[in-house]
Amino acid sequence: MMEQDILEVFFSAEDIDARIGELAAQIDKDYEGKELVLIGVLRGSVIFISDLARKIKNKLVLDFLAVSSYGQATTSSGQVRILKDLSEHIEDKHVIIVEDILDTGNTLSYLSDMLTARQPASIKICTLLDKPSRRTADIAADYVGFTVPDAFVVGYGLDYCEYYRNLPYIGILKPEVYSH
Ligand code: PRP
Repeated sequence: MMEQDILEVFFSAEDIDARIGELAAQIDKDYEGKELVLIGVLRGSVIFISDLARKIKNKLVLDFLAVSSYGQATTSSGQVRILKDLSEHIEDKHVIIVEDILDTGNTLSYLSDMLTARQPASIKICTLLDKPSRRTADIAADYVGFTVPDAFVVGYGLDYCEYYRNLPYIGILKPEVYSH
């Protein structure tokens, strides 16, 4: 079972639920009377965007992007490869990019530039977790769930070797899990 691999819980399911409620209320306030496009970046953001979208009362469209970083070169080059582009046009739309974590900032920096070029009415970033200590790109989120220290967190969409995304909370793994 996954649970036995967790050393410590950082944010419980209840913490996450409450914080997403606050983010959704803020978004509803900021976009009152405006239609929204929520763009989830696969795969990590799937759990977050599904809960966030259900708490937003504004009218919205859901769309998804799939990206892949160019291996280890990402940190230095900032290169991101688009595996799946949006299904809809975003010109003149109010767009929020939804991520599970903002780490070095390379992914969101690239995506933000790419989507800005399509001339949306506005573009903002919403991330569940922000890890500012690791930032190399000049980018900040407009909506942040929680700020986290430089620890390898899993759960609620975040993976280790593709596992643990389905944990309902966010935590850190026991060291021995990495050595398997
Ligand atoms: C994670 C996360 C962001 C990115 C953030 O994705 O979902 O997209 O890394 O890191 P950065 O700020 O350093 O660019 P990952 O590549 O792990 O893929 P996943 O979403 O499929 O887990």
